[in-house]
Amino acid sequence: MPRLTPDDEVARLTAELMRPGAPALLQCKALEDAGVPGVRVFLAARHTHVDEVLRDEALFSLSLYDTLLEQVAGPTRYFVGASTPDRQRRFTMLMAAQRHLAEQRGASTTPSPQLATEYRGWIEGVARTEARAVLTLLLPRLRARAQVDFVREYAMLVAYRVTRQVVGTAGPQSPPLFARLFAFLRNVTTNTGIPLSLAGEQGRAMSMAALLHPLFGHVFGTVVRSPGWLVAPTRWATTGSLAAVDAVLDNPAAAPRLSLVRALAAIRKDFGQVDDDCWRIDARSILFELAGALGIVVANSLAQCADFMASPAAAQAGTGFDAIIAALADDSAPAALHDATINETMRLAAGNRLVRTVTKTDTFQGIALNAGDRVVALVAAAGQDPAAFPDPTRFAPDPARSYLTSGPFDGPHVCYGRAIAWTVMQVALVEAARVMRPAPGARLALFGGLPDFMAWEAAPA
Ligand code: HEM
Repeated sequence: MPRLTPDDEVARLTAELMRPGAPALLQCKALEDAGVPGVRVFLAARHTHVDEVLRDEALFSLSLYDTLLEQVAGPTRYFVGASTPDRQRRFTMLMAAQRHLAEQRGASTTPSPQLATEYRGWIEGVARTEARAVLTLLLPRLRARAQVDFVREYAMLVAYRVTRQVVGTAGPQSPPLFARLFAFLRNVTTNTGIPLSLAGEQGRAMSMAALLHPLFGHVFGTVVRSPGWLVAPTRWATTGSLAAVDAVLDNPAAAPRLSLVRALAAIRKDFGQVDDDCWRIDARSILFELAGALGIVVANSLAQCADFMASPAAAQAGTGFDAIIAALADDSAPAALHDATINETMRLAAGNRLVRTVTKTDTFQGIALNAGDRVVALVAAAGQDPAAFPDPTRFAPDPARSYLTSGPFDGPHVCYGRAIAWTVMQVALVEAARVMRPAPGARLALFGGLPDFMAWEAAPA
């Protein structure tokens, strides 16, 4: 009999967890690490349990992200990490910077500037301008009936350009050796008719993605311990992307006027109690995380959504490319319905999981846990739980559904950029569909785990 892979074992246990009367967690030995004895791994799959695990920071900590970042990025930290006074200070800085930007835009400030309607309107304008600029570059080829790569020539470029406006970082000025090696390997092993280019702006967008990709695997893909072979290349790539952030911190005047980089420089004087080294680490951490989330996570999510929209799975779910675009383009629909349409698409398109570390010896739903055990919250499986999503394979966007596609809706670690992401994704898809659409039968191809190619062509006149 063929040996079961860890993925097979996770799938088997997920099915068991979904059975009526199943325990909240099941141990998954296939994800444990013989080199780290005593650390057990449990899976959570039901929506209610995944949600509970993600919200209960007292029992389920995010400290693993900190440990993994420390291995490759020195003192740089994410907000997605254990709640510490340092994290709180960075939040205070970020909020102050956002308030400063709201004043610059002539808006009234709110306690959550990133969720304010005015801010979303501003993001929408930026996304529309950038999407149209990229499409203008693609139009001659589309008119000549040539195919374009939706992933690299559109999604990544739009996300990159929005990141440059909103965060202020622009990735490395010229592609570092790591990015050049990545592009070389991709181009010698993959023939899609459109080679990966490292020239100009596309080169900078690609470099940013290539440099951040190993880090995302290292930090978000690890359950117990990152494989040894991944650590050195991740450190190499991460050093390159941190250098790009440092370059812009050294010269904030070169960043766009309404970017976070400029705002952080402007509010520095209000944080006199924070010494220069600490300020630098905090500012670098904020910009690094937000640039990665907006530049890469949004581009990945766009690619995954486009793939689903054009797939037979969408038709089976009772929807498709045209129906989803029509829903997103409907100006008479409330923003909450647009958000739900993006979330519903992501629910059916993406396959995420999040990892937590048990903080103390305790029980969860009657299951005994030891400090240091890991719990893998199977977000994608929770999105298929009929208890939360009746008839889960049907496409049924509804603002009342409790989506976990960007983590829980509230609690200590809600996704800071979800409203930003949903806005950018909506605009990018609607603008793209005005002039192009997936080529018949086109599917998303990955290279090294990173979205790489999906053929789109001119929309019918
Ligand atoms: C579709 C795109 C996005 C997805 C799927 C996504 C997903 C997530 C998820 C799942 C979490 C929770 C992680 C956990 O609990 O372990 C999270 C947190 C976070 N996200 Fe996003 N995100 C997206 C876009 C963004 C954007 C655009 C930004 C910033 C501009 C952003 C900034 C953050 C931050 C700062 C946190 C940490 C919040 C905290 O721990 O306090 N995200 N995101």
